[in-house]
Order: sequence, then structure tokens, then C-alpha cells
Amino acid sequence: MSNTEILRRRFLEHVGQTSPSPLMIPVARAEGVFFYTPEGKPYYDLVAGVSVNNVGHGNPEVVEAVKRQAERYMHVMVYGEMLEPPQVEYATEIAALLPQPLESVYFVNSGAEAVEGALKLAKRWTRRAEIVSMRRAYHGSTHGAMSMMGEPEGEEWKNAFRPLLPGVRSIEFNDFDALAEITERTACVLCEPVQGEAGVRPPAEGYLEALRRRCTETGALLIFDEIQTGMGRTGEMFAMTKYGVTPDIVCLAKAFGGGMPLGAFIASREVMGTLQCDPVLGHITTFGGHPVCCAAGLAALRFLQRTGIVADVERKGALYEELIGGHPQVKEIRRSGLLMAVELGSSDKMFRMMEMFASEGILSDWFLFCDTAFRISPPLTIDDAQIRDSADIILKCLDRL
Ligand SMILES: Cc1ncc(COP(=O)(O)O)c(C=O)c1O
Repeated sequence: MSNTEILRRRFLEHVGQTSPSPLMIPVARAEGVFFYTPEGKPYYDLVAGVSVNNVGHGNPEVVEAVKRQAERYMHVMVYGEMLEPPQVEYATEIAALLPQPLESVYFVNSGAEAVEGALKLAKRWTRRAEIVSMRRAYHGSTHGAMSMMGEPEGEEWKNAFRPLLPGVRSIEFNDFDALAEITERTACVLCEPVQGEAGVRPPAEGYLEALRRRCTETGALLIFDEIQTGMGRTGEMFAMTKYGVTPDIVCLAKAFGGGMPLGAFIASREVMGTLQCDPVLGHITTFGGHPVCCAAGLAALRFLQRTGIVADVERKGALYEELIGGHPQVKEIRRSGLLMAVELGSSDKMFRMMEMFASEGILSDWFLFCDTAFRISPPLTIDDAQIRDSADIILKCLDRL
């Protein structure tokens, strides 16, 4: 039995599974936009860990920061008690990039935990209980975050785990009339500025502004989930600045940790301050803001800033669109920067593409709420030659559909 066969068998026997059909591609190492099997077969990573590896796999600056911090110290004490330089420096630098009043960074472990913290903070601040989310939204898999998956599509996942959070209503993203459902009873509205797992749905002209206005009118807090869109993915450091709308709370994770598990919810000092009293310890976390993860995230942020690659993300996305968009099998491309859905109009075609991609050395994926499109969201470090080469492979697969 080969080493890979042994690995596959042990994986199925001893590692908890998320689906009956895992990809099971063995990973030996990863560098830049590629990962490699033990036999050395390269794969273009067009998923980037679902918008995690924005600075490329094995980014030397991130690896060095991880090593340095691991040598100094790893975990000392639960979040929020000690003066930890990687946390303080990262919070300071991220706050400097965000529009006012987003200045107070509460570090957590993951996207779902950032969403949980943000929802709790909004309830605590407004003393209201109702929460509005968007249909076909994905915000994480914990009870609170899962409750935010809008109906009707989210029902399939949610029904098996009820009861979930009460008082949640979902509205259609980009539906201006539905904003009337946000009222003085609403604690907060949770929204991805570009919907990711819905199959990449950018906001309609003026929609986020109208949403902002309605939240301000009613006193509901606006929470942006920038877990997929943050850290340069849409062509600006944050989608909120690209679309010109500032939320009351923003959730970050995924690329925020530079490849390590890290999340945050960020608000004004005044709003954030409510979590420290009445009751004290309103949200607590042991590993939130782990110093090694903060060091990695900070190194990734500095890499993005120093290299200026974010400014080139829109052009790179447009190049992919130009190369692939004209193929007769492609019905539509929905895109914001390098967050891209290639719509085939058929789940059967999409799954056949996945099979061809696996043998041709491409890792792509479909979307939780859209299995008729495949994803192109590579590391932002991808260069033009790699875009052209991977687009050639994609075109050849499309020809065979
Ligand atoms: C928009 C969005 N929010 C939240 C999450 C949940 O993040 P995590 O898996 O780190 O809990 C995801 C994960 O895919 C996401 O795409």
C-alpha cells in the first residue's frame, strides 16, 4: 500500500468528515499560487483556502514572523489580560487603515467567532434582540452564525440543528424595498458587502448606502462581514472602502491571519466598551488573538502594503474575465476584484469541470448556495503568466464540456 493510500485510509477512519465525498488530494507542500502532492504534481490553487492565502502560500515574510514569535512565546494567558506586542501592533495598524470610528479591535479565533462576538455586541449596545440577515448568506457554522444563513436556501442546513437563535429575519440582498423590514426593534443587520457563498453577488448601485441610511434611521447597527472580502480580495484593502460605506462593526478573519487562525470584530471604542461591564467579561476567548497568529497577520498586512499588490487586484481579475468570459459555455462572470464566480448555468457542468480540474492540476470549488458556478479566487500574488496559463487550462476544460 502506498503512503498516500495509507494516508487516505487513516483520514477516512480517524479524521472527522464534513461530507461523504472529500477531495482527498494529498498535500505535501505549498508555495506561492501552487500546492504540490507528494509525487510533485502541482495544482494551481484557485481557491486560496477560500480567500485565506491572499499573500501566497509559504510567504517568506509571514513564515519568518511566525518563527520569530514562536521562539519568543506562544500562549501565555487568555485574551485581553496581558500586554502582548503582536496584538497591540496589529490592532494599531489595522485601525489606522479602517475608516472612523472603527478603532477598537477584539481578536478572536475564527470567522464564526467574530460573527458571534459582533452579534452579541450589537445586542448589548442596542438592548434589542431582533437581527436581520441576508438570504443566501454564509457567516459560519456555530449556532449563532448558522442562524444568520437566510432562508430559503439555508433551511436545508438549519433544520437539523434547530432550535437556533430566535428573532432572526432574512431579507433579499440588493432588494431596496425589503429594507423597510429593518425597524426600531432591530439590533443589527449582518451583511457581506459582496456576497460570497451566494456565488459572488456584488452590491447593486446605491444598495449599501441605502442599507446604511436605514440602519442609521432605525438605530440598528450595521455589521459588515468582510471575512472573505477583506485584506485586498476585492481590489481595495476592505470592500467597505471600495463601495464607500462604513459599518458600525466589521468582522474580519480568513486572510486577516495571513494563513493562521485569527479573526476580529472591530467597532468604535464606545460601542466595544460595553462588552467589559454589566456583565463583565461579555465575550471571552482563550486563544483569541494568539500572538503567533497576530504576528503572521501583521506580516501579511505589511506585505500587502509594502508590495502594493492590492492596487493590481482589479486588473488581474479583469484579465481572467477577458480570457475566460467569451467562452460559449460561460453564461456570466460575477466578480469583485479577484473574488470571481464563473457561471455555467448547470450544476452538472460545474461538477464535470471539477473532475477535469482535479486531473488537470487546478483546485477550484463551487459555492455553498450556488452549485452552477465555479470559483476563481487565487492568492493575490498570482502573476499575469500564471493567470494566462491557468486560464488556458480552464478554457481547454470548458471546450470538453
Ligand atoms: C463570509 C464568511 N463569513 C464567515 C465565515 C466563517 O468563517 P470560519 O470558517 O473561520 O468560521 C466564512 C467562511 O467561509 C465566510 O465566507
